[in-house]
Amino acid sequence: MTLDLSAVDLRTEVVRTERLVLRPFRPTDVDAVHRASQDPETQRWISGIPVPYTLEDARKFVEDIAMKERADGLGLSCVIEADGELVGTCGLYLRGGRLGPEIGYTIAPWGRRKGYAAEAAHGLADWGVALGAPRVHLFVDVGNTASQATAVRAGFTPEGTVRSCLDHRDGSRRDAVLFGRLAGD
Ligand SMILES: CC(C)(COP(=O)(O)OP(=O)(O)OC[C@H]1O[C@@H](n2cnc3c(N)ncnc32)[C@H](O)[C@@H]1OP(=O)(O)O)[C@@H](O)C(=O)NCCC(=O)NCCS
Repeated sequence: MTLDLSAVDLRTEVVRTERLVLRPFRPTDVDAVHRASQDPETQRWISGIPVPYTLEDARKFVEDIAMKERADGLGLSCVIEADGELVGTCGLYLRGGRLGPEIGYTIAPWGRRKGYAAEAAHGLADWGVALGAPRVHLFVDVGNTASQATAVRAGFTPEGTVRSCLDHRDGSRRDAVLFGRLAGD
């Protein structure tokens, strides 16, 4: 399941929604990423981020992971910007496979409860579908009810529970709800 990226430069691609700009990371984002990643809810649900989260972790994420992901054609990692300020991060990852591109998002504590996550996820899904993806998906921990509500608001449909598919920080494995959005949804 591949996208037609022939007319797209992933390194500079920007997705715009009504209130948001989903843009590439820049080195000047390190401080805001560092501040946002101190949030306990983010650390609880995004098991891949280091705890404690240092400024060096933020620099590594921005410069070595997110910027490189685009340069290597592996995905569209984005800063979620509202009124010129970083309010979260999101991405559409092109790992392929039957489920199609995968979406992820996190909103900084100072940007929550404004509908930004749903708007960003909707925008990324539209972007993928416009480039030929028949479906896009995301996985949400069965306990993360806030993010499940976000996925539904973003136009995704719950497609079932996938057992033991998420690595948890404590070494255990967790079940996730699989959400999908089809080109025709
Ligand atoms: C889960 C998470 C992403 C939700 O972010 P969010 O931007 O607050 O979520 P949504 O986009 O769904 O919007 C949430 C609220 O904004 C409201 N909203 C929607 N559109 C709106 C608009 N245009 N203007 C104002 N408010 C709006 C919604 O009604 C909702 O309110 P409610 O929670 O009181 O019902 C965020 O809490 C988070 O980052 N959590 C930690 C990390 C995480 O769980 N990431 C996801 C892993 S799968």
